[in-house]
Amino acid sequence: MASPKHNMLREIFEQPEAVQQTAEAASADVSSQSFYGVSWKEAGLASLDRILIAASGTSRHAGIAGKFMIESLAGIPVEVDYASEFQLSPAVVSPKTLTIVITQSGETADTLAALRKAKKSGSKVVTISNVEQSSMMKEADFRIHTKAGPELAVPSTKAFTAQLTALFCFALFLGEIRKKVAREQAAAFRSELASLPAKLQTVLGLDAKCEALARRFRDRSGFIFAARGVHNAVAMDGALKLKEVSYLHSEAFPSGEILHGPLATIDEDIAVIAIATVDGADSDSKARFEKTLSNLKELKGRSGKIIALASEGDTRVGKLAEETLYLPKAPDLLLPILEIVPLQLFAYHIAILLGRNVDSPRSLAKAVVND
Ligand code: BG6
Repeated sequence: MASPKHNMLREIFEQPEAVQQTAEAASADVSSQSFYGVSWKEAGLASLDRILIAASGTSRHAGIAGKFMIESLAGIPVEVDYASEFQLSPAVVSPKTLTIVITQSGETADTLAALRKAKKSGSKVVTISNVEQSSMMKEADFRIHTKAGPELAVPSTKAFTAQLTALFCFALFLGEIRKKVAREQAAAFRSELASLPAKLQTVLGLDAKCEALARRFRDRSGFIFAARGVHNAVAMDGALKLKEVSYLHSEAFPSGEILHGPLATIDEDIAVIAIATVDGADSDSKARFEKTLSNLKELKGRSGKIIALASEGDTRVGKLAEETLYLPKAPDLLLPILEIVPLQLFAYHIAILLGRNVDSPRSLAKAVVND
């Protein structure tokens, strides 16, 4: 693409490379002995009783997806907490808890405090960061370096998809050493991962469509993002991206939760953005998809407009949504890496139409280093 006017747009378009580099580094670093220097025997990764993830902002949304990945592939219970809450909470952390802190900058004060609290409680700490020489990488017991390259725009985009990639690789690694994932299954997942950069290029081809949607929806008074399962992390970050760059009101809810209250706020002036993709090879994904379709039927007619993300080849979502964007197929746990891209582009274009400063939105900082 011609050199874009804004770092945010350039970084959105750098995601195929960010995901590829991060995935290649993971597979290069995974061996029977270690994963990015995580010597799994030392870390006792085979005998953990739970994992705690602490992070802030977009990085915490990656942690929400990481929870689903690790619980699905490794069968270890995972809790995700706001770093700002964890540092002063009675959260029980023990040497059998592995703590993962996720941080693009590696300097966020709340997350650094959470790392220090976890270490003091006897938990080993893994830092996932985009800055190799950052404070949190230095203080960690083990480190996973996302290879997104420097991220300059305050709204985090390519670091997020790189974090999702690193978390998936770590979840797969845990699943293998805990014998929850068979060798052939792991190989199939790794080849699916290797096919993501090309699929991301296809999704980036939706940019013009996202810009057209932004023109149609820029005057909405509010936006509700709805999803189920691992896709909730994408809905949360889609809502945060829009908030950060356009200053418009947006919230994310699990699709099934909308009926318990938020539905009352939905009228013709509210746009609903629903993630309605499906992995046809995954029975849980198909069950969630059927429930999402019935949620969309509830919303149709109440909401001013429904924009849906669906899977290529689907013929049902388009009948319920005003606008449907079709994404390439992928395993359910990898779909978030594709789904977030049109939401990043939608947020970017609405913000530009509103004359916002997308790279440095009002009141926000790239890293909050003082708590
Ligand atoms: C905020 C940024 O200040 O900090 C967000 O605006 C970011 O984009 C959050 O997600 C957490 O930062 P980090 O560096 O710890 O991932």
